[in-house]
Amino acid sequence: MRILVINGPNLNLLGIREPGIYGNSTYEDLLNLIRNHCEEKGIEVSFYQSNHEGDLVDAIHEARTSADGIVINPGAYTHTSIALLDAVHAVNVPTVEVHISDVSKREAFRQISYIREACVKTIQGKGFAGYLEAIDFLAAGAF
Ligand code: DQA
Repeated sequence: MRILVINGPNLNLLGIREPGIYGNSTYEDLLNLIRNHCEEKGIEVSFYQSNHEGDLVDAIHEARTSADGIVINPGAYTHTSIALLDAVHAVNVPTVEVHISDVSKREAFRQISYIREACVKTIQGKGFAGYLEAIDFLAAGAF
């Protein structure tokens, strides 16, 4: 099982960025948490982070041949990007949408997720643990 974890804009600043919403742990802490989890479960994991929409599209395309599942937190592109939605539809790799915060309880403009309809599951409001839940969901293959 090979999983690609993609993080979109501003998630490189975890720990610095709005800690009241996203917590004090850094992006590197997130990667270590996921790495340890995947090592325990024998899952091959790789990571990609970008602040640029087109680069995220390219990363999704690459997953077509290099991953069995995608975990993606598209950040603010969740609420704006039809290009990311189309990319997930195009590659046909099972994808889970993750949000650290509970976007359903935040501003109205965060209630829209374009990518959601192409995803097999959405996990929100569970902090970093949401990424682990997404990985376990993909590894279980029950979708
Ligand atoms: C986020 C929620 C988005 O609305 C926001 O733009 C982010 C992070 C989350 O993980 O909670 O950048 O995806």
